[in-house]
Amino acid sequence: MQKLVSLLFLLALPWISIAQPFVANYDESKVPVFTLPDVLVFNDGSRVVTKKDWDKRRSEIYSIFEKDVFGVVPEWKGQVKSTIVSHCVDALDGIAKRKEVRLDFMNGDQKVSVMVLIYLPQNSKNAPVFLSYNFDGNHTTTMEPDVLIPDSWVSNNKAFGISDNRASEKGRGGAASRWPMKEIVSRGFGVATVYYGDVDPDFDDGFKNGIQQLFDSKRDSTSWGSIAAWSWVASRIMDYFETDKDVNAKRVIMMGHSRLGKTSLWAGASDQRFAMVVSNNSGCGGAALSMRKFGETVGRINTAFPHWFCDNYKKYNGKEELMPVDQHELLALIAPRPVYVASAEEDLWADPRGEFLSCVYASPVYELLGMKGLPSKVMPAASNPLIGTIAYHIRPGKHDVTLYDWQCYMDFATDYFKLKK
Ligand code: GCU
Repeated sequence: MQKLVSLLFLLALPWISIAQPFVANYDESKVPVFTLPDVLVFNDGSRVVTKKDWDKRRSEIYSIFEKDVFGVVPEWKGQVKSTIVSHCVDALDGIAKRKEVRLDFMNGDQKVSVMVLIYLPQNSKNAPVFLSYNFDGNHTTTMEPDVLIPDSWVSNNKAFGISDNRASEKGRGGAASRWPMKEIVSRGFGVATVYYGDVDPDFDDGFKNGIQQLFDSKRDSTSWGSIAAWSWVASRIMDYFETDKDVNAKRVIMMGHSRLGKTSLWAGASDQRFAMVVSNNSGCGGAALSMRKFGETVGRINTAFPHWFCDNYKKYNGKEELMPVDQHELLALIAPRPVYVASAEEDLWADPRGEFLSCVYASPVYELLGMKGLPSKVMPAASNPLIGTIAYHIRPGKHDVTLYDWQCYMDFATDYFKLKK
């Protein structure tokens, strides 16, 4: 019997070691010793000293993230057409203007439509606008009855009564706690939200659906994944904002939660027109340092979501220490623009400490550019935001976007844009 058990153990060994890298570690004492790439040292080992040096170093870092993490966006050969499909002058009990704008992306005879739901304060001239994707459809962000329901693919979700990948009336307002529209508008901000599945349905389909089908289909190990696709469309929404007199395109805050927080960071790094970036609980592949291997790891994320990043990222499954970049450098790509990173105490999967440390290690770039980085190297207690040009907080509770999170982002933006309090 003993022999049989030993034999079975021996046979299982290879599987145990294959599975091992993807087992989540939640023990701080088991975080490996690692050396982060120095954000202010060029790939050839020389130091970044001047602001001009930083521009070159920035391109080096950007190019690594493009080719090794998120993937390169191919050349766009199509057209984008915008149509205002609804307009309401007294939304949210009269405090807001609301419109829905459809962006049709067309190439040859193929078309993908993306609906942008926009709430703006009545006097919107200087209002900063949060641009933020939603997970389940624009109609889930509000109780307002006439906001359109998407007809694109949605995840099945019992709470929203979806079992056939089709959104329905049952989901209306279902995610409203994450979208305190009235509070946001009353503080002088606008919100534009888009169902992320309009852009790319979030499952691994070999990039046959969503926006990618409108591009050249040849793929290699550097080709873009879904996060790059969501980010690219965020920039096309920005193109639209630049044509819309109601929106101040110079004050757009790219904000996102979780996988959409990863998206907001990459969009902010890729398009410097975004005036500010907010990462809410973005975790692995977002704000959290990968080399800590705490909570979700590169191997785990690439296994569960093989379509989010480029194939090259898979080289680092279980080998994060070999990565030529880490996520503090993703934050640094946003400099000198303000970036706010937020964690939640119970959201260990997203590695709050790793998210905080990214802010610390991105700070030298902000300082080089004459801005204040994160004002402390000590992780703050819950609900005590650290505010520099990089800001960070951790709040009690779970992986979510709460009113507290929004209030912190709005306080930060109010100061940055010098709005009336
Ligand atoms: C999963 C995934 C995370 C992601 C999250 C979300 O938990 O592992 O990386 O951030 O989903 O988007 O909600």
